[in-house]
Amino acid sequence: MQLTKFDITEFLAEYWQQKPMLIRNPWAEWANPLSPDDLAGMACEEDVESRLITLDNGALSAEDGPVPEKRFRRLGRAPWTLLVQAVDQYIPDVAALVEPFRFIPDWRIDDVMVSYATDGGGVGAHFDQYDVFLIQGLGTRRWQVGGYCDDNTPLLPHDDLRLLADFEATEEWLLEPGDILYVPPGFSHNGVAVGDDCMTYSVGFRAPARSELIGDYCEHLIDQLPDDDRYTDPKLATQDNPGEISAAAIAKLHKMVTDQVNDPAAFALWFGQYNSTPKYPDIDWRPDFVADADYVRDMLAQHFPLARNPASRMSFIRRVDGGIWLFVDGEKYDCQGDTAQLAERLCALGLPEVSLPMVQTADCVELMVTLLNQGSLVFESH
Ligand code: SIN
Ligand code: CO
Repeated sequence: MQLTKFDITEFLAEYWQQKPMLIRNPWAEWANPLSPDDLAGMACEEDVESRLITLDNGALSAEDGPVPEKRFRRLGRAPWTLLVQAVDQYIPDVAALVEPFRFIPDWRIDDVMVSYATDGGGVGAHFDQYDVFLIQGLGTRRWQVGGYCDDNTPLLPHDDLRLLADFEATEEWLLEPGDILYVPPGFSHNGVAVGDDCMTYSVGFRAPARSELIGDYCEHLIDQLPDDDRYTDPKLATQDNPGEISAAAIAKLHKMVTDQVNDPAAFALWFGQYNSTPKYPDIDWRPDFVADADYVRDMLAQHFPLARNPASRMSFIRRVDGGIWLFVDGEKYDCQGDTAQLAERLCALGLPEVSLPMVQTADCVELMVTLLNQGSLVFESH
């Protein structure tokens, strides 16, 4: 699906990370990619992350999934909402909703969450830490957007939901199928279903917290540092007061830390791997057969189209030596020459256009075999 009435340049300059934007049905032809029943079915699955939010006498409560099938039958007339995370990993038509937003780099993409609500259903006024495109899939939703919030914004006391204590809408729209509301991080918003069968697709992004980057990078560095890499002070100078930690000692200690942290190439390599770790690393996507070099050549010769697994995270970093580091699902691959070309092709927009002439060297075939066998790539039927 393509966005035909949408100016990417204007959006990036004026709205992305800055202010909300309503985009009235920009699709060539909007078609809701998933039925409410299929979404409910997914929420019953063990591996799938879901939540059920119900509204009773004005109070919202949340239950974590999986949702037992009989729970749906017991839901009364009070408004409710079902939220299912990472639906793009299972439903190719939902994964296709990400494609038009790939003017934002892949490493920023999180997932597509899908919600279903009955009349009056919603998750309450809140703010998120991430950018989101809220695509109205089916039915109608009233969206209100308010001011910018941060960690000091008062919340309602609630065990499971982060609801705003004071929400004042500054803008309000009724969204119909195909309409999109972009909300930057921090902006308060509140969506309420108008009528039953309201489905919203949230194409969500991620942005690492500084605390998370520092914590996880340092943990990685620590794992590599030997215990005997220690402070030393040969030819120690005498000092008047033994209680003083000298400026020279502090400078040396600080350098022990900064020298390790301050290596851009080492950081890039770590970040690429770290960022490409799958959203649900415990889910096993390996195929039930083992691909080998002959299989790869055979499938390419027969022009079978190649697809990335939507659950797979893939990105690359260019190096000064002309090669690239390819990162796939938490692993790194050192790619040079034709392997680098192949790696770039795998990460490019649309389906990866890989042809047999591109995969001639043993290194290229090996990369393909590895990625197919770990379920990151798959040959589709004609
Ligand atoms: C929803 O789809 O009901 C909520 C999405 C959001 O507010 O982030
Ligand atoms: Co939200």
